[in-house]
Amino acid sequence: MSSSCLLALESSCDETAAAVCTLDGRLIASRIASQVEIHRRYGGVVPEVASRNHVLHARLLVEQVLEDAGKKPADMSAFAATSGPGLVSSLLIGTSMAKALAIAEDKPFVAVNHMEGHLLSPFMDGNGPVRASIALIVSGGHTMLVRVHDVGRYELLGRTRDDAAGEAFDKVAKMIGLPYPGGPEIDKLARQGNPEAFKFPRSFLDGSSLEFSFSGLKTAVLYELPKLDLKDERLLADLCASVQAAIIEVLVEKLVLAAKRSRETLVTVSGGVSCNRGLREVLTARCAKEGLELLLARPELCTDNAGMIAFAAVQRFNQGHSSPLEADVDPNLSLVS
Ligand code: KG4
Ligand code: ZN
Repeated sequence: MSSSCLLALESSCDETAAAVCTLDGRLIASRIASQVEIHRRYGGVVPEVASRNHVLHARLLVEQVLEDAGKKPADMSAFAATSGPGLVSSLLIGTSMAKALAIAEDKPFVAVNHMEGHLLSPFMDGNGPVRASIALIVSGGHTMLVRVHDVGRYELLGRTRDDAAGEAFDKVAKMIGLPYPGGPEIDKLARQGNPEAFKFPRSFLDGSSLEFSFSGLKTAVLYELPKLDLKDERLLADLCASVQAAIIEVLVEKLVLAAKRSRETLVTVSGGVSCNRGLREVLTARCAKEGLELLLARPELCTDNAGMIAFAAVQRFNQGHSSPLEADVDPNLSLVS
Protein backbone atom coordinates (compact mmCIF):
# COMPACT_ATOMS: atom_id res chain seq x y z
CA MET A 1 0.00 0.00 0.00
CA SER A 2 1.49 3.38 -0.89
CA SER A 3 1.51 6.54 1.27
CA SER A 4 1.17 4.59 4.50
CA CYS A 5 4.58 5.38 6.01
CA LEU A 6 6.62 8.23 7.34
CA LEU A 7 10.40 8.69 7.18
CA ALA A 8 12.23 10.45 10.02
CA LEU A 9 15.76 11.69 10.62
CA GLU A 10 17.52 12.18 13.96
CA SER A 11 20.68 14.30 14.17
CA SER A 12 20.40 16.23 17.45
CA CYS A 13 23.77 15.17 18.85
CA ASP A 14 26.33 12.59 17.76
CA GLU A 15 24.18 9.88 16.18
CA THR A 16 22.94 10.21 12.60
CA ALA A 17 19.85 8.07 12.21
CA ALA A 18 16.96 7.43 9.83
CA ALA A 19 13.85 5.29 10.20
CA VAL A 20 10.60 4.40 8.47
CA CYS A 21 7.43 3.86 10.52
CA THR A 22 3.95 2.93 9.33
CA LEU A 23 1.13 5.30 10.15
CA ASP A 24 -0.21 2.74 12.62
CA GLY A 25 3.06 3.02 14.55
CA ARG A 26 5.04 -0.03 13.40
CA LEU A 27 8.75 0.58 12.94
CA ILE A 28 9.75 -1.15 9.70
CA ALA A 29 13.31 0.11 9.17
CA SER A 30 15.81 1.88 11.38
CA ARG A 31 19.52 2.59 10.98
CA ILE A 32 22.08 4.51 13.02
CA ALA A 33 25.52 5.75 12.01
CA SER A 34 27.17 6.19 15.40
CA GLN A 35 29.95 8.74 15.90
CA VAL A 36 30.89 7.45 19.36
CA GLU A 37 34.32 6.23 18.25
CA ILE A 38 35.10 9.60 16.62
CA HIS A 39 34.17 11.67 19.71
CA ARG A 40 35.72 9.25 22.23
CA ARG A 41 39.20 10.62 21.59
CA TYR A 42 37.98 14.09 22.68
CA GLY A 43 36.18 12.74 25.79
CA GLY A 44 32.86 14.23 24.61
CA VAL A 45 30.92 15.47 21.58
CA VAL A 46 32.61 18.15 19.43
CA PRO A 47 29.73 20.00 17.67
CA GLU A 48 31.64 20.92 14.50
CA VAL A 49 32.86 17.34 14.03
CA ALA A 50 29.35 16.01 14.72
CA SER A 51 27.66 18.17 12.06
CA ARG A 52 30.28 17.32 9.43
CA ASN A 53 29.70 13.63 10.06
CA HIS A 54 25.92 14.06 9.86
CA VAL A 55 26.44 15.56 6.38
CA LEU A 56 28.50 12.54 5.38
CA HIS A 57 25.96 9.96 6.57
CA ALA A 58 22.45 11.38 6.30
CA ARG A 59 21.81 10.80 2.60
CA LEU A 60 23.13 7.24 2.59
CA LEU A 61 21.07 6.36 5.67
CA VAL A 62 17.89 7.64 4.03
CA GLU A 63 18.59 5.49 0.95
CA GLN A 64 19.34 2.47 3.13
CA VAL A 65 16.20 2.66 5.30
CA LEU A 66 14.03 3.10 2.23
CA GLU A 67 15.64 0.03 0.71
CA ASP A 68 15.27 -1.93 3.98
CA ALA A 69 11.60 -0.97 4.10
CA GLY A 70 11.09 -1.80 0.41
CA LYS A 71 9.73 1.72 -0.16
CA LYS A 72 10.39 4.74 -2.35
CA PRO A 73 10.32 8.40 -1.26
CA ALA A 74 6.99 8.74 -3.09
CA ASP A 75 5.47 6.07 -0.76
CA MET A 76 5.98 8.34 2.27
CA SER A 77 3.05 10.34 3.64
CA ALA A 78 5.37 12.81 5.38
CA PHE A 79 9.01 13.48 6.27
CA ALA A 80 10.04 14.24 9.84
CA ALA A 81 13.15 15.32 11.72
CA THR A 82 14.24 16.29 15.20
CA SER A 83 14.12 20.09 15.47
CA GLY A 84 15.38 20.41 19.07
CA PRO A 85 16.65 20.33 21.71
CA GLY A 86 20.22 19.62 20.64
CA LEU A 87 23.21 21.10 18.84
CA VAL A 88 22.10 23.72 16.29
CA SER A 89 24.61 22.73 13.61
CA SER A 90 23.63 19.07 13.99
CA LEU A 91 19.86 19.67 14.06
CA LEU A 92 20.14 21.66 10.83
CA ILE A 93 21.43 18.66 8.88
CA GLY A 94 18.50 16.34 9.66
CA THR A 95 15.82 19.02 9.33
CA SER A 96 17.28 20.31 6.02
CA MET A 97 17.26 16.81 4.56
CA ALA A 98 13.70 16.07 5.73
CA LYS A 99 12.50 19.42 4.38
CA ALA A 100 14.25 18.81 1.02
CA LEU A 101 12.53 15.42 0.73
CA ALA A 102 9.19 16.99 1.69
CA ILE A 103 9.59 19.65 -1.02
CA ALA A 104 10.71 17.13 -3.66
CA GLU A 105 7.78 14.78 -2.94
CA ASP A 106 5.28 17.56 -2.18
CA LYS A 107 4.48 16.02 1.22
CA PRO A 108 4.25 17.57 4.70
CA PHE A 109 7.23 18.12 7.00
CA VAL A 110 6.84 17.21 10.69
CA ALA A 111 9.22 18.77 13.23
CA VAL A 112 9.71 16.54 16.29
CA ASN A 113 10.85 17.39 19.81
CA HIS A 114 13.67 14.96 20.66
CA MET A 115 12.38 14.63 24.24
CA GLU A 116 8.92 13.68 22.97
CA GLY A 117 10.67 10.97 20.94
CA HIS A 118 12.19 9.57 24.14
CA LEU A 119 8.98 10.10 26.12
CA LEU A 120 6.81 8.09 23.71
CA SER A 121 9.38 5.33 22.93
CA PRO A 122 8.08 2.92 25.63
CA PHE A 123 4.77 2.81 23.71
CA MET A 124 6.51 1.38 20.61
CA ASP A 125 6.70 -2.34 19.74
CA GLY A 126 2.95 -2.77 20.16
CA ASN A 127 2.74 -1.19 23.63
CA GLY A 128 0.46 1.58 22.37
CA PRO A 129 -1.79 3.43 22.24
CA VAL A 130 -0.16 6.26 24.18
CA ARG A 131 -2.13 6.67 27.39
CA ALA A 132 -2.22 8.47 30.73
CA SER A 133 0.99 7.73 32.64
CA ILE A 134 3.90 9.10 34.61
CA ALA A 135 7.09 9.30 32.55
CA LEU A 136 10.65 9.46 33.80
CA ILE A 137 12.99 10.67 31.04
CA VAL A 138 16.67 10.12 31.80
CA SER A 139 19.10 11.08 29.06
CA GLY A 140 22.51 12.72 28.76
CA GLY A 141 21.09 16.24 28.91
CA HIS A 142 17.75 15.84 30.73
CA THR A 143 16.19 14.27 33.81
CA MET A 144 12.45 14.93 34.00
CA LEU A 145 9.30 13.56 35.53
CA VAL A 146 6.33 14.25 33.27
CA ARG A 147 2.64 13.53 33.66
CA VAL A 148 1.30 12.35 30.31
CA HIS A 149 -2.40 12.98 29.76
CA ASP A 150 -2.33 12.15 26.04
CA VAL A 151 -0.10 12.75 23.00
CA GLY A 152 0.95 16.41 23.19
CA ARG A 153 -0.61 16.99 26.64
CA TYR A 154 2.27 16.92 29.07
CA GLU A 155 2.72 18.39 32.54
CA LEU A 156 6.18 18.83 34.05
CA LEU A 157 6.29 17.42 37.60
CA GLY A 158 10.01 17.80 38.30
CA ARG A 159 13.42 18.10 36.69
CA THR A 160 17.07 18.21 37.70
CA ARG A 161 18.41 21.38 39.27
CA ASP A 162 21.94 20.67 38.04
CA ASP A 163 23.34 17.62 36.23
CA ALA A 164 21.19 15.16 34.30
CA ALA A 165 21.40 11.49 35.34
CA GLY A 166 23.35 10.56 32.18
CA GLU A 167 25.67 13.50 32.77
CA ALA A 168 26.32 12.22 36.32
CA PHE A 169 27.25 8.79 34.91
CA ASP A 170 29.48 10.38 32.24
CA LYS A 171 31.22 12.85 34.58
CA VAL A 172 31.96 10.26 37.27
CA ALA A 173 33.24 7.87 34.58
CA LYS A 174 35.58 10.55 33.27
CA MET A 175 36.86 11.27 36.81
CA ILE A 176 37.76 7.61 37.31
CA GLY A 177 39.39 7.24 33.89
CA LEU A 178 36.67 5.33 31.99
CA PRO A 179 36.09 6.08 28.30
CA TYR A 180 33.24 8.24 26.91
CA PRO A 181 30.30 7.68 27.10
CA GLY A 182 30.63 6.62 30.72
CA GLY A 183 27.11 5.28 31.40
CA PRO A 184 27.53 1.93 29.64
CA GLU A 185 31.04 1.51 31.15
CA ILE A 186 29.79 2.04 34.70
CA ASP A 187 26.83 -0.28 33.98
CA LYS A 188 29.28 -3.03 32.90
CA LEU A 189 31.68 -2.68 35.86
CA ALA A 190 28.84 -2.29 38.38
CA ARG A 191 27.70 -5.86 37.61
CA GLN A 192 30.77 -7.18 39.47
CA GLY A 193 30.74 -4.66 42.33
CA ASN A 194 29.15 -4.26 45.74
CA PRO A 195 26.58 -1.41 45.67
CA GLU A 196 26.94 -0.91 49.42
CA ALA A 197 30.74 -0.59 49.48
CA PHE A 198 30.57 3.24 49.45
CA LYS A 199 27.81 5.36 50.95
CA PHE A 200 27.22 8.07 48.39
CA PRO A 201 24.61 10.81 48.96
CA ARG A 202 21.06 10.47 47.65
CA SER A 203 19.66 13.92 46.98
CA PHE A 204 16.03 13.57 47.88
CA LEU A 205 16.03 17.30 48.57
CA ASP A 206 13.21 17.65 51.14
CA GLY A 207 11.85 14.11 50.83
CA SER A 208 8.62 15.08 49.11
CA SER A 209 10.17 16.96 46.20
CA LEU A 210 10.05 15.67 42.64
CA GLU A 211 13.13 17.71 41.69
CA PHE A 212 16.51 16.00 41.22
CA SER A 213 20.11 16.95 41.99
CA PHE A 214 23.19 14.91 41.08
CA SER A 215 26.04 17.39 41.55
CA GLY A 216 26.57 16.36 45.21
CA LEU A 217 27.23 12.79 44.12
CA LYS A 218 29.94 13.96 41.73
CA THR A 219 31.60 15.98 44.52
CA ALA A 220 31.39 13.03 46.94
CA VAL A 221 33.19 10.80 44.41
CA LEU A 222 35.81 13.50 43.87
CA TYR A 223 36.59 13.61 47.63
CA GLU A 224 36.85 9.81 47.75
CA LEU A 225 39.29 9.51 44.83
CA PRO A 226 42.61 10.49 46.49
CA LYS A 227 42.08 7.66 49.01
CA LEU A 228 41.60 5.01 46.33
CA ASP A 229 43.80 2.87 44.10
CA LEU A 230 41.71 2.64 40.95
CA LYS A 231 44.02 0.02 39.48
CA ASP A 232 42.42 -2.33 41.99
CA GLU A 233 39.69 -3.86 39.80
CA ARG A 234 37.58 -5.02 42.74
CA LEU A 235 37.55 -1.53 44.20
CA LEU A 236 36.78 0.09 40.85
CA ALA A 237 33.80 -2.25 40.43
CA ASP A 238 32.61 -1.43 43.99
CA LEU A 239 32.90 2.29 43.25
CA CYS A 240 30.87 1.94 40.02
CA ALA A 241 28.22 -0.21 41.72
CA SER A 242 27.89 2.30 44.58
CA VAL A 243 27.61 5.33 42.28
CA GLN A 244 25.05 3.53 40.14
CA ALA A 245 23.02 2.46 43.19
CA ALA A 246 22.86 6.08 44.42
CA ILE A 247 21.56 7.31 41.04
CA ILE A 248 19.08 4.42 40.69
CA GLU A 249 17.59 4.83 44.17
CA VAL A 250 16.76 8.50 43.63
CA LEU A 251 15.26 7.88 40.17
CA VAL A 252 13.11 4.95 41.27
CA GLU A 253 11.87 6.52 44.51
CA LYS A 254 10.85 9.77 42.82
CA LEU A 255 9.08 7.93 40.01
CA VAL A 256 7.09 5.87 42.54
CA LEU A 257 6.31 9.01 44.58
CA ALA A 258 5.07 10.84 41.46
CA ALA A 259 2.85 7.88 40.49
CA LYS A 260 1.35 7.60 43.97
CA ARG A 261 0.77 11.31 44.24
CA SER A 262 -1.01 11.52 40.88
CA ARG A 263 -2.78 8.14 41.35
CA GLU A 264 -1.53 6.92 37.97
CA THR A 265 -0.87 3.17 37.71
CA LEU A 266 1.16 3.21 34.49
CA VAL A 267 4.77 4.41 34.56
CA THR A 268 7.30 4.64 31.71
CA VAL A 269 11.06 5.21 31.72
CA SER A 270 12.96 6.39 28.65
CA GLY A 271 16.22 8.00 27.47
CA GLY A 272 19.77 6.62 27.28
CA VAL A 273 20.05 5.89 31.00
CA SER A 274 16.99 3.61 30.81
CA CYS A 275 19.33 1.09 29.09
CA ASN A 276 21.06 0.64 32.43
CA ARG A 277 20.61 -2.98 33.51
CA GLY A 278 20.70 -2.21 37.23
CA LEU A 279 18.02 0.46 36.81
CA ARG A 280 15.81 -1.87 34.78
CA GLU A 281 16.07 -4.61 37.42
CA VAL A 282 15.31 -2.32 40.37
CA LEU A 283 12.43 -0.67 38.48
CA THR A 284 10.89 -4.01 37.56
CA ALA A 285 11.01 -5.28 41.16
CA ARG A 286 9.83 -2.03 42.74
CA CYS A 287 6.96 -1.44 40.31
CA ALA A 288 5.74 -5.03 40.82
CA LYS A 289 5.77 -4.44 44.59
CA GLU A 290 3.85 -1.19 44.24
CA GLY A 291 1.32 -2.63 41.78
CA LEU A 292 2.48 -0.27 39.01
CA GLU A 293 2.54 -1.26 35.35
CA LEU A 294 5.98 -0.47 33.91
CA LEU A 295 6.78 0.18 30.24
CA LEU A 296 10.41 0.28 29.11
CA ALA A 297 11.57 0.53 25.51
CA ARG A 298 13.97 -2.15 24.29
CA PRO A 299 17.59 -0.96 24.74
CA GLU A 300 18.16 0.02 21.06
CA LEU A 301 15.22 2.41 21.35
CA CYS A 302 16.44 3.96 24.64
CA THR A 303 19.55 5.69 23.31
CA ASP A 304 19.25 8.18 20.46
CA ASN A 305 17.64 6.68 17.36
CA ALA A 306 15.33 7.75 14.54
CA GLY A 307 12.72 5.05 15.25
CA MET A 308 11.45 6.97 18.27
CA ILE A 309 11.40 10.20 16.22
CA ALA A 310 9.39 8.49 13.46
CA PHE A 311 6.98 7.06 16.07
CA ALA A 312 6.46 10.47 17.74
CA ALA A 313 6.01 12.09 14.31
CA VAL A 314 3.34 9.50 13.43
CA GLN A 315 1.43 10.27 16.65
CA ARG A 316 1.43 14.00 15.82
CA PHE A 317 0.77 13.50 12.10
CA ASN A 318 -2.24 11.30 12.87
CA GLN A 319 -3.59 14.18 14.98
CA GLY A 320 -3.44 16.35 11.83
CA HIS A 321 -0.25 18.11 12.81
CA SER A 322 2.55 19.19 10.43
CA SER A 323 5.12 21.99 10.48
CA PRO A 324 5.83 24.91 8.14
CA LEU A 325 8.97 24.58 6.03
CA GLU A 326 10.21 27.84 7.60
CA ALA A 327 10.11 26.21 11.07
CA ASP A 328 13.51 26.81 12.64
CA VAL A 329 15.54 24.47 14.81
CA ASP A 330 15.61 25.30 18.54
CA PRO A 331 18.55 24.11 20.68
CA ASN A 332 16.50 24.69 23.85
CA LEU A 333 13.13 23.41 22.64
CA SER A 334 10.94 22.61 25.63
CA LEU A 335 8.62 19.63 26.00
CA VAL A 336 6.11 21.53 28.08
CA SER A 337 5.04 25.10 27.35
O1 KG4 B 1 19.21 9.56 25.26
P1 KG4 B 1 20.66 9.57 24.94
O2 KG4 B 1 21.18 8.55 23.97
O3 KG4 B 1 21.12 10.96 24.40
C1 KG4 B 1 20.61 12.17 24.87
O4 KG4 B 1 19.53 12.58 24.40
O5 KG4 B 1 21.28 12.72 25.77
O6 KG4 B 1 21.42 9.43 26.35
C2 KG4 B 1 22.78 9.39 26.41
C3 KG4 B 1 23.14 9.17 27.87
C4 KG4 B 1 24.64 9.27 28.12
O7 KG4 B 1 24.83 10.08 29.26
C5 KG4 B 1 25.02 7.83 28.40
O8 KG4 B 1 26.13 7.68 29.27
C6 KG4 B 1 23.75 7.30 29.04
O9 KG4 B 1 22.71 7.88 28.30
N1 KG4 B 1 23.69 5.84 28.97
C7 KG4 B 1 23.71 5.03 30.05
C8 KG4 B 1 23.68 3.71 29.58
N2 KG4 B 1 23.63 3.75 28.21
C9 KG4 B 1 23.63 5.06 27.86
N3 KG4 B 1 23.76 5.33 31.37
C10 KG4 B 1 23.78 4.31 32.23
N4 KG4 B 1 23.78 3.00 31.85
C11 KG4 B 1 23.73 2.67 30.54
N5 KG4 B 1 23.71 1.37 30.17
ZN1 ZN C 1 18.38 11.59 23.44
